Amino acid sequence: MSDSVFLAGDENWWRQAVVYQVYPRSFKDSNGDGLGDIKGITSKADYIAELGVDAIWLSPFYPSALADGGYDVADYRDVDPKLGSLADFDEMIKAYHDRGIRVFADVVPNHSSDLHVWFQEALQSEPGSAARDRYIFRDGKGESGELPPNDWPSHFGPTSWTRTTNADGTPGQWYLHLFAPEQPDFNWDNEEVIEDFKKTMRFWSDRGVDGFRIDVAHALKKDMSEPYPHIENYDVKHIPLDGSHHLFDRDDVMEIYKGWREIFNSYNPPRVAVAEAWVPAERRPRYASMETLGQAFNFDLLAAPWSAKKFKKSIEFNLDLSEKSGSSSTWVLSNHDVVRHATRYGLPKKTDYEKWVMTDGNSPELDRELGQSRARAATMLLLALPGSTYMYQGEELGLFEVADLPGQVLQDPIWLRDGMTRKGRDGCRVPLPWETTGSSFGFGTGAAHLPQPTWFAGFSVEFEEKQEDSTLKLYRAALKLRKELLTSETLEWVPSKRKVVHFKRDNGWHNITNFGKKPVALPVGTVLLTSAPLVEGKLPGNSTAWIKE
Ligand code: GLC
Ligand code: CA
Repeated sequence: MSDSVFLAGDENWWRQAVVYQVYPRSFKDSNGDGLGDIKGITSKADYIAELGVDAIWLSPFYPSALADGGYDVADYRDVDPKLGSLADFDEMIKAYHDRGIRVFADVVPNHSSDLHVWFQEALQSEPGSAARDRYIFRDGKGESGELPPNDWPSHFGPTSWTRTTNADGTPGQWYLHLFAPEQPDFNWDNEEVIEDFKKTMRFWSDRGVDGFRIDVAHALKKDMSEPYPHIENYDVKHIPLDGSHHLFDRDDVMEIYKGWREIFNSYNPPRVAVAEAWVPAERRPRYASMETLGQAFNFDLLAAPWSAKKFKKSIEFNLDLSEKSGSSSTWVLSNHDVVRHATRYGLPKKTDYEKWVMTDGNSPELDRELGQSRARAATMLLLALPGSTYMYQGEELGLFEVADLPGQVLQDPIWLRDGMTRKGRDGCRVPLPWETTGSSFGFGTGAAHLPQPTWFAGFSVEFEEKQEDSTLKLYRAALKLRKELLTSETLEWVPSKRKVVHFKRDNGWHNITNFGKKPVALPVGTVLLTSAPLVEGKLPGNSTAWIKE
């Protein structure tokens, strides 16, 4: 492929970039089959350019049976025919590159789909064969191997083991899957696995992909020696700091990423990557080091309640960490795995969101207006911080979680695999509303693969383009200003009231976020943008102002 598919430029472009996450199936449907697709993404290149982000990150678009929304990949080097073709992909990259927007692909190295040719081959091969060694097969316990090899749970249900059936119909070995049974875990001690992923990295890099988001980056290497330890759950709290957990954040996972780094650096500009690694914060710099992936998601603000103290602490802590790794910090409020932040911020602090979703969103304590104000304020705060921001499709419209999806339409494996006790993540994956009318609010010409609520009309792009104070307009204004104001990756705290987060950048750009209820006075300077109208010159509660000295 010629060099023209590459987007040239400063090799540090990513350090303070804003990356917009596209969840392909739910972004834009170009052919009316109800599923978002690659051509749909291409058709919205102007919209994304006008929004003002630096890059888009596509959640998996590879061939997949969609057992886990595409995070069950059947072929790492192709496009799902339901979503388009490689030619469509090339066209899409070109459309974005032409507008100066970079493209990230999502790589899922911990597990494949059970439909991957390697897994199918493994099922048809003998225990102990080379084909089985690419995955993690073990004999069962009990008299005739009828019990799973150990008690490890899966993220989506009670067990991470599924038993296979031999060619003659008798029960066979078990295989490990930390997620759904349709997502068998790879054996990362196997050379073929290592080499194949290098090939995948080159394949997409050659096609012009600028960066990679690495799914479950902390889980690839495992200690499968016996005796197996008892593992109750996979809470990050239980991952020790010394790399000794049997499944997560083992020290030698870095060897894999060092290998990828060589590949990234062989391109100009070097390809970049960001790790999704659910590890103790202190261990994040290992993933974010310039010798490994280069960036790691920091989900601390996503997990933080609406509190000035917590936000400030987390910002300080993460800026410190990024200094340690030599990377820039990342900031995130929403993604395809969590309840949308406009909803989270409208609920009482200690809410268990998984339980709340089970109420169909009908619990009286949800205050949407409050959630909306805080979400707008939080976004402005994030965009004023040094480092890069990852935003999730639909947050620029101020979308709320669709919490009342009925059980029969849910697609998330969490719902069925965990005995219908947890609804899972579909509520933030409902297709985007582009227009105020139509069978799927302009998502496509047909229906949407997850039903959209009627209130989506008032959150559609068409509607918000006409409202001066819409969230879409706020995002556009903030992103435009951010580009103009971007400066060194430092921040200085300005003394403030307890419920206020006030910092300034070295060019006199102030961010003041009022986490409390009472309006606060603003410092002297030019007010550049506010997330809510000022009240007698003061900044109202739950809002943010940017000021230039
Ligand atoms: C990551 C993805 C999530 C997926 C899981 C398994 O956490 O963000 O959506 O279910 O990995 O691949
Ligand atoms: Ca489609």
